[in-house]
Amino acid sequence: MTITSLNASAQAPKLTKDNINEVISAMTLEEKAKLLVGGLFDFFSPVAVAGSAARTVPGAAGTTVAIERLGIPETILTDGPAGVRIDQTRPGTQKTYYATGFPVGTCLASTWNTDLAQRVGKAIGNETKEYNCDVILGPGVNIHRNPLCGRNFEYYSEDPLLTGKIAAAYINGVQSEGVGVSIKHYAVNSQETSRTRVDERLSQRAAREIYLRGFEIAVRESDPWTVMSSYNLVNGVFSNANKDLLTSILRNEWGFKGIVMTDWLGKRESQGLFTVDEVMAGNDLMEPGSPEQVKDIVDGVKNGKLKMEDVDKCIRRMLEYIVKTPHFRGYKPSEAPDLKAHAAITRETAAEGMVLLKNANNTLPMHNIKKVALFGTGSYNFLSGGVGSGCVHTPYIIDLVGGLKNVGIETTADLTELYQKYNAFAKLKFEADRPADRWFEAPYMGDQKVPEVEISDLCISRQVANSDAAIFTISRQAGEGVDRSIEGEFSLTDLEKKMLQSVCSQYHAAGKPVIVVINSGSVIETASWSNIPDAILVAWQPGEEGGNNVVDILTGKVCPSGRLTMTWPIFATDHPSTKNFPQDMPLFSYEAIQNYSDAGVPGRDFTNHDEDIWVGYRYFDTWNKDVAYPFGYGLSYTTFEFGKPTVKKVGDKITVSVSVKNTGKVAGKEVAQVYVAAPNGSIEKPEKELKAFGKTNLLQPGESQTLQMTMALRDLASFDEANSRWIADAGNYNFMVGANIADIRGTVQLKLTEYTEKTNNALAPKVKLNLLKRN
Ligand code: BGC
Repeated sequence: MTITSLNASAQAPKLTKDNINEVISAMTLEEKAKLLVGGLFDFFSPVAVAGSAARTVPGAAGTTVAIERLGIPETILTDGPAGVRIDQTRPGTQKTYYATGFPVGTCLASTWNTDLAQRVGKAIGNETKEYNCDVILGPGVNIHRNPLCGRNFEYYSEDPLLTGKIAAAYINGVQSEGVGVSIKHYAVNSQETSRTRVDERLSQRAAREIYLRGFEIAVRESDPWTVMSSYNLVNGVFSNANKDLLTSILRNEWGFKGIVMTDWLGKRESQGLFTVDEVMAGNDLMEPGSPEQVKDIVDGVKNGKLKMEDVDKCIRRMLEYIVKTPHFRGYKPSEAPDLKAHAAITRETAAEGMVLLKNANNTLPMHNIKKVALFGTGSYNFLSGGVGSGCVHTPYIIDLVGGLKNVGIETTADLTELYQKYNAFAKLKFEADRPADRWFEAPYMGDQKVPEVEISDLCISRQVANSDAAIFTISRQAGEGVDRSIEGEFSLTDLEKKMLQSVCSQYHAAGKPVIVVINSGSVIETASWSNIPDAILVAWQPGEEGGNNVVDILTGKVCPSGRLTMTWPIFATDHPSTKNFPQDMPLFSYEAIQNYSDAGVPGRDFTNHDEDIWVGYRYFDTWNKDVAYPFGYGLSYTTFEFGKPTVKKVGDKITVSVSVKNTGKVAGKEVAQVYVAAPNGSIEKPEKELKAFGKTNLLQPGESQTLQMTMALRDLASFDEANSRWIADAGNYNFMVGANIADIRGTVQLKLTEYTEKTNNALAPKVKLNLLKRN
């Protein structure tokens, strides 16, 4: 009799949180292998990739399998991150399963408000739990390496500190509901093109300081239940099987205690990625799972490639995860979360993330406006979120017509009718012409943008006569699997430019204002046209209450306090990463993922991070390059005065304090941003880097608040590759408090002694990179 069958026939213990060792010893090898492989075995149907095949919760992305003999329940994993993505209807019932659409990552982060991020996280955690799921697959914390990345909308920022702080708040919120997160995609998953095979080649310093830092902060400050390893390779090794990433750094250095699951591609042997290597690297769960992977693990142990010890480490972590889940606790979900209460939370949050870029002659808040003409298909087909796994099936989306109507502002009837009928027609036509294999453009993958339609000068002139102002919505959609192009996606199309010009010239001739609303999850080009309209508001993709949120800002019900979390460049090519960023990928399709051969093609087979740590403002600020709008920028309807900042160090904590006074006429909130310039030392550094921030409460005119913003000494350190360590040199540090990176209001100095911290020598590049140098 083998040991395996002996165990199976013994009296089986039922899992409790105190008998994990006993359960591990009672498990057969087959049971262990099954527990490490997700249960979505019908993965190879294209629809299943889209996450509509999980049986217990239709539309959920994946599961972990039940082993009833040992009292191990199935657990359910759902996307994420801007709300729960499950099917809104189910066969055989009239009941609906809509989930609240919250602001996408860029909008949430642009609040610079960790309390709000936590509240949103808590509401999402609650919907996860009430819809019978255990883990939400988010937050997405990859860095905006380049404005063309198709999934930037899901991510927070070009800056790792801001990313980490918002992520930690979101995670703490979700997990306070007794469900888990899967912080993703670990790591350096900064492009969608060839995402399953691209080798992201970068220096150890860029990895540590830029791409891993947000994950590190979140792991240290919020203890996520799970981490999702990304599809791509990092310096020649698949993330899913990258021991440096998953064990040396994540667990040994940062103290991560949860489980790591793969992103959703199952068995990838044809790409040179083997299940056994994934397990050995510390990847506990293969999602969405296939029976072959179970066999791989069993065979791996039997033929000695895989040590039982490695399997058991993963099993222990899986069981430690399982005992925390609602399914294990026997939680009875209501299947009816309080969508009304959560709508109120998104209503409050999204407006705070919107960023006012321009407000000539105090056009906003709107005064004496009773009727507006709404231009742009997006005014009527308002995009609440992005497409792909990050979409949410919301009960409704408030568009601009609805938002204005709710406050008694009319829209011009003829134009409204024209656009609404055109949008309905365009959607039907799109569906009718969509080939079946383009399932990623199907409605269940999120709302598609409707192409712009030309409105004649004559029609515009009728609108001018009949309205007090025009609103022009520029909308952009983006999502999983595809990066954005410069032409027509980052930039305006010729038709958009022409219409914007015509609308503005006719309205201005009549002395009436034009407001542009940017309904895009990511950065677009503005420098060539921002002088034309009177006001520009970045609404992002703000969730289901979008139209109401925009109108809250336009009418002054909410004073804008969102600040950009990424630089808005003049040209996309101003980012040094653009030269190595793919821009000509054939349109994504399931076929393309499976069959596309890109061996040896730069940007697809590999991408060199020659820009090194000079990502976003670290480049623009240090090189003194002009930008359209700097990092941290955003206007308000009021003005704020910053007092003289002070700094104090207690133990290894450094606290910068500053008083902020509302010196204007309306109540508002302000963000104080602490940038630090290090003394010249052993390593060249950016001119300044964001190290802390704080947001005031709603300050009434004349009211002040003192913000205290704390960082640790180790937060000031840079990564010294030669010695595999973090180092903050001794010397004078300048702590600069600003309203954005280009608007520093006060500086205070502090002399610090050297700080060093040894690390593993991990993630060494295998090829020589042509790294950008400051000097
Ligand atoms: C995405 C993940 C997502 C997963 C499950 C993958 O293709 O990259 O972000 O969580 O699918 O839907």
